[in-house]
Amino acid sequence: MLDSLIILALNSQPNPKFLTLFAGFIKVNVSVVRFGFLILMQRPTLAPDGILFQSSNGAGPGNSKIQLELTLAFSNFHSRKKAPILPGISMDPLLQIQDLSVRFNTPEGPARAVDRVSFDLAPGETLGLVGESGCGKSVTALSILGLIPDPPGKIEQGKILFSGKDLVTLAQDQLRRIRGNEISMIFQEPMTSLNPVLTIGRQVMEPLLAHKGLSRSEAEEEAVQWLERVKIPGARSHLSSYPHQLSGGMRQRVMIAMAMAVRPRILLADEPTTALDVTIQAQILSLMLELKKESHSSMLLITHDMGVVAQMVSRVVVMYAGEVVEQARTGDLFQNPSHPYTKGLLKSMPRLKRQKKSEKIRLEEIPGTVPRLTEQIAGCKFFARCPCAFDRCLQKRPALRNVRGDHFARCWLVEAS
Ligand SMILES: Nc1ncnc2c1ncn2[C@@H]1O[C@H](COP(=O)(O)OP(=O)(O)OP(=O)(O)O)[C@@H](O)[C@H]1O
Ligand code: SF4
Ligand SMILES: [Mg+2]
Repeated sequence: MLDSLIILALNSQPNPKFLTLFAGFIKVNVSVVRFGFLILMQRPTLAPDGILFQSSNGAGPGNSKIQLELTLAFSNFHSRKKAPILPGISMDPLLQIQDLSVRFNTPEGPARAVDRVSFDLAPGETLGLVGESGCGKSVTALSILGLIPDPPGKIEQGKILFSGKDLVTLAQDQLRRIRGNEISMIFQEPMTSLNPVLTIGRQVMEPLLAHKGLSRSEAEEEAVQWLERVKIPGARSHLSSYPHQLSGGMRQRVMIAMAMAVRPRILLADEPTTALDVTIQAQILSLMLELKKESHSSMLLITHDMGVVAQMVSRVVVMYAGEVVEQARTGDLFQNPSHPYTKGLLKSMPRLKRQKKSEKIRLEEIPGTVPRLTEQIAGCKFFARCPCAFDRCLQKRPALRNVRGDHFARCWLVEAS
């Protein structure tokens, strides 16, 4: 519930200076009441607590920065209000991942896909999990549901605590009661995650019949409603369709409907909108936040898209080569990234505005590639790509160090600063 709503109605190209000043004003002055913005323009995007931003010209100079400024204003505001929920300062988290390591046996030797990962998810929180391809985001999420294929995979160590139970050691039948019910997942690969020989209706209805005690006709009605909510045209007629009869984007929306229909306590969303057109992405993200609020769920949102991170999540965990390298509240991470990898990630975000008129806008990249997971690395895993590396980085692995408040980074420079 909002206590107040600020409406900016702009139907032409906004004056960037005005909006930047406006965002600054909000950041400095609004600290007591909850508030919202609604900027009436053309292209919708989302604020961290689900309030719709629309910008007049998504491609126009300055707008992405302005949206980010407004988003940061929101997340800073939320940061001031919420109790700390980072390692060591936890407030009854709903899910706690502690020192989790996952290994795959490969022909080249054992590969540690997840390496001593720890983080918490608080009730009602939306936490972002970001990092380059292959850094262990999906494997972390799959571990929560006990879906690591064994062999070749194995949870080597660690705990995943949910409602006082350790999911790592839980019996399969107990885990089945939680999976797709209290914790549900939108899988990264909708093409392969839907069963090709079962109809869409059967697949959406199955968790409702198995876990929610609905009759067939109730489950069917609920399934139709969810397919409509995720904007499947002619939802009822698709109950009898098979996955191959749907487009990639439609299959992804079916996955979203299946995961959300059970109203889970935790929604694991692994790149939930990658197969969707940009026009529908914002609607689906908005729907996910709406459901999250309705059901008081928490969400772990895995994404490559730092724009989605800025707008959707209140806290971010950054992974690199299987490790957590930084975690912080969203506003803090964007304004004060501390790990050189996070700095590189943020610099590689597309930028539309020049700092100076003469500047040529180039997409910056992080040189080099992620190390092979079979490599034994004694020191910092980012060493080979880091512009700030020094001797100690090669010799000893840095621990996750406190930058300030609830901001942590795994870098020797944090200690030195
Ligand atoms: N079944 C498997 N067998 C062997 N290696 C695997 C298996 N599943 C994952 N891996 C390895 O684990 C590492 C982490 O994979 P993961 O899917 O978690 O990456 P990710 O961060 O989700 O990447 P992306 O952003 O591309 O989805 C990768 O190196 C991957 O090759
Ligand atoms: S520990 Fe060293 S190599 Fe690693 S990120 Fe920090 S400065 Fe770079
Ligand atoms: Mg993945």
